[in-house]
Parts: sequence; C-alpha cells; structure tokens
Amino acid sequence: MKEKVRLEGIQKKYISKKGETLALKEINLSVKENEFICIVGPSGCGKTTLLSIISGLIPPDIGKVYINDQEVTQIYPRVGYMLQEDYLFEWRTVYENVRLGLEIKGMLNGETRDKIMMLLENYGLADFTNHYPRELSGGMRQRVALARTLATDPEILLLDEPFSSLDYQTKLTLEEEMHNILKRQQKTVIQVTHDIAEAISMADRIIVLSKRPAVIKSTFDIDFQEDITPLQKRNIKKFQVYFNDIWKELDIHV
Ligand SMILES: Nc1ncnc2c1ncn2[C@@H]1O[C@H](COP(=O)(O)OP(=O)(O)O)[C@@H](O)[C@H]1O
Ligand SMILES: [Mg+2]
Repeated sequence: MKEKVRLEGIQKKYISKKGETLALKEINLSVKENEFICIVGPSGCGKTTLLSIISGLIPPDIGKVYINDQEVTQIYPRVGYMLQEDYLFEWRTVYENVRLGLEIKGMLNGETRDKIMMLLENYGLADFTNHYPRELSGGMRQRVALARTLATDPEILLLDEPFSSLDYQTKLTLEEEMHNILKRQQKTVIQVTHDIAEAISMADRIIVLSKRPAVIKSTFDIDFQEDITPLQKRNIKKFQVYFNDIWKELDIHV
C-alpha cells in the first residue's frame, strides 16, 4: 500500500516566559493510504502538537513532514483537521458552520449543499440545521465539528479526541458510524485519543507515546477479522488482551 504520510525526526520545543518545554523529542512514523492510526499517550505528552505539525499549522523545529511524498511547508489543503476544542462559530447556524470549509474553497453548489444535508442527517442533526451552537449539547457540537471536517472530502483526517465530550452511548454510536463512513470512503486517518478501548475498536495500528518529551514508545498492530464493527470488537476476547498490553505501556500512574 502507498505511503501517505511520513514523519522524519520531528522535534518541537515551546518557548515562553516560564521557560522551555520540549514537547516532541524525535518522532518517526510512516502512515499508509487508507490506514487508520490511533495515537495514545499521557495527558500533556505532545499529541495535539504532533497533529498540528502534520497539518502544517505549526512547523517542527527539526525534522520533516511529507504527505504524498511532498514536504509539508504550509497548511496542506487535502487535510481535514478537527481540533480538540470544537471551535464552532457561535454566530453561525449548524448548517452555516458545516458549510464553512466548502465556502472558503468556493465549492458551494447544489451538489455540495445536498452533501451537507446528508451529513447532517447521518449525524442526527437534521432537525437542528438552523439552530445556533449555544442551543446544542456537547455531543451535538462535536458532531457538527465532525460533519464540518468531512464536508470538504479530505484525503487525510486528523482527529484530536473527536469523541471526548460525548456520553458513552453516543460515543459508541458515533464510533460505529465513523468506522462505516471512513471504510466506505477510503480515508487515511490519524486520530488522537486518551481512550484505549476507542483506539482498539477503531484503529489498524496504535502508536503509544511516552510521557513528555514524546517519543514513540511502542506500536501495536490491531488485527481483527475483516468486516467486524467497532462494537463487535469490544466483545471479542482478543480485545481485552490488547487492552491489557497497551495499558501497561502507558505511563499513567494513579
Ligand atoms: N502554545 C504553547 N506554548 C507553550 N507550551 C505549550 C503550547 N502548546 C502546548 N504546550 C505544552 O506542550 C506540551 C504538550 O502539549 P500538547 O501537545 O497539547 O499535549 P497533549 O495533546 O498530549 O495533551 C504540554 O506540556 C503543554 O503545556
Ligand atoms: Mg491534546
């Protein structure tokens, strides 16, 4: 399978009045086309920083990012980046938020409008098309943000804790839906999560980061039989084995 994303020796340090924070020490990673990668790691280890660097939003200090074999030096157009905070525009309706990316790209037409309506339908937001974000629950806001990210049909999706503010049932339902949508559309996905179970049920491969400054501590190939859904995976014995192995790798102390 073709390589889609490559990270070579990525290092990133933040400098502020309080001093220096080395967030990423050295990250090397290759992601194949249509692969679904989950990145897990302790809070504050540098996961969001890594996604921002892949998107081209912030540059690394050392190292290079390649997408489709081209070095990323600015925001890469075929990437959909869903930020950790939903950043919905409060003065825009649900529909106007979801169409934002298409509007910016000058791609609003009958066909893309239909597509937006279909996304809203799929995400259980059809009745809220003309509502404003403040009228929505946290979970609904997150679904709006997800729909907005998918509306421009990106090749690569960068998702920063996309299900984190959802209640358990909604989370399982959305995991199921996302899995179906992404499988049908053959996207390449890099998703950050702190939820090991979510990572096992969604990913082809899980990357465990160390605590800050982050390096890749270990990698797990997740291998279930074809055509099995995230929910079904949770009921297979192997799931618990993966869970225990990954749990041991994470630097979480309570
Ligand atoms: N803009 C910034 N300025 C200074 N420090 C930052 C900035 N963004 C993140 N950091 C620090 O870098 C580290 C990694 O942050 P982040 O990538 O957000 O971690 P994670 O997403 O894994 O929780 C943290 O210690 C955080 O405080
Ligand atoms: Mg983060």
